[in-house]
Formats: sequence, C-alpha cells, structure tokens
Amino acid sequence: MAMRNKGLEIVPSGKALGADVRGLDLNEAMDGEVFGRILDAWHRHLVLRIRGQNIDDDALVAFAQRFGRLHSAAGEEYGGKPRGLHDAVELISNIVEKGRPIGALGAGEATWHTDMSMFEVTASATMLYAEEIPATGGNTYFTNLYRAHDTLPEDLRRLVEKRRSLHDAAYLATGGVRGGYEAVADKSQGPGARHPIVKVHSSTGRKALYLGRMGFGYIEGLSVEESDEALAALWAHMTRPEFVWEQVWETGDLIIWDNRCVAHARGAFDPSARRLMRRVTVMDD
Ligand code: SIN
Repeated sequence: MAMRNKGLEIVPSGKALGADVRGLDLNEAMDGEVFGRILDAWHRHLVLRIRGQNIDDDALVAFAQRFGRLHSAAGEEYGGKPRGLHDAVELISNIVEKGRPIGALGAGEATWHTDMSMFEVTASATMLYAEEIPATGGNTYFTNLYRAHDTLPEDLRRLVEKRRSLHDAAYLATGGVRGGYEAVADKSQGPGARHPIVKVHSSTGRKALYLGRMGFGYIEGLSVEESDEALAALWAHMTRPEFVWEQVWETGDLIIWDNRCVAHARGAFDPSARRLMRRVTVMDD
C-alpha cells in the first residue's frame, strides 16, 4: 500500500517542453512526496503526459484539486453543459446529442491561446483527459513561452517590456463570437482583462510572454495597426517550430499544461468522427 505510485519515472519529450510521467495510476493513493515530484516535473517541463489512465470525474477532480482551486465551468459558449456533469468538469467535444453540442470547440481548428487569460483571475493548470479520439487529426500543440521570452529579438523586447495587452474576451479560439458577447468594432476598446505582456510566473518566478489568443487582442499605447503588426511578429516568434511539442492523442491520455508559460493550439479533425475530452482548469490564485 505505501509503495503505490512510488515507482514513477519522468521521461522528457526531447523537445522544448513536455514529458511523460510513467508508472502512475491516478486511481491509486498518492502521497505528498509523489505529488511533489510531479509538481517539480511540471515546473521543469511545463506540460506532462500521463498515459494509460482509466479514471472517472471524481478521480480527475481529486488530482486537479492538488494543484489549486478549480474553475467552475458553465459552458455558456455552446449553450450550457450537459446536466449532472461535475461542477468543475467541462467537455471538449464535437458530439451533438438531441440537437445540442455536449461540449466546446467542435471539430475545427483552435488557434494558439492560453486558457482564461481574458479574465482578471487567470488559469494555472489545465488538465485534458482523452476518452474518445478520432483515428487521425485533433492533435494538440504546445509552445514554450519562457523560451519565447528569453530569445525575443531586441526590438520586440523593447516594445513589450512594461507594456500590457488586452486579452480579448469576445472571440473563441475557433474564431466565432463567444455566447453572451458581440463582435468587436474597435480592438482597443473590446471586452477582456489587461495583463503585462512579460508575465512573471507565480510559482517559478521566471518570465514568459503572455498574450491570450493569436489573431485577437491589443497592445496598450499603440495604434490598432501598430498593435496588429507587433502581435503578428510576436506570435510568429512564440510559435517557432523549435519551441513546439505536438501531442498525438491516445485514449486514456491525461495532459496537464501550465497556462502561465505555455500556449496551445488544436488541429481540426473529421467532423463525422467522435472526439470526447474531459477538461478541468485550476485558477492561478
Ligand atoms: C483547449 O484548447 O483547451 C482544448 C485543446 C484540445 O481540444 O486538444
């Protein structure tokens, strides 16, 4: 009993971020020492993958709660969550039941973004657990925003230092207008929180570039045209292939990423195939 989950191994992806955690069963007890190793690995590798899990929402939520306070997900952008779903669990899915989507994001591409940055209180961890996946497509991409910060060309560094940007709340990563919002005519006046572009990570103290969603947002103190140009250059830098790791999903994969230093994107997949993921988000407070 005391040895449960003691034999875990951390295997880095060999890319700019990402590591597999092997020898962990989330249905088994986990003591503080084991969790400490997971937390340390997460801070070093930014995205962790735990393969071969077979967990229910209670086990998913219990693990996520070790990282902090959980976001209560309402699913307003697709008409509300299915009844009976755990308060903290949200479905990411293209499945439609009785004429209603059961989850967010559908089958289209989701552009680069960090979760919940459009709010004052943002997200630290997001966990995504794969229950059903399509035969191909729907891969998720992660980019290392510490690296992006540390390698920023001098002109862009000077431009972003001490500036804030508006993290647009009106649009979804899939490009549509979020439920309850209207299309934005002037990006500099749109809804959403404003955060420093150079973000100091609340646990590691390291600096990362932090910009919300690619294609949206606005940098304070610039004209909208100047801001669009700067944001395009910043995102091109942040998503350079050498900063990116691609997750090709298997059923039973649990991924944990750190929104304070990682942006992610999702590829499109065949809309007639089923993809069902369970997501839990931890608040950065
Ligand atoms: C997300 O963007 O939060 C979900 C990513 C995915 O569906 O792989």
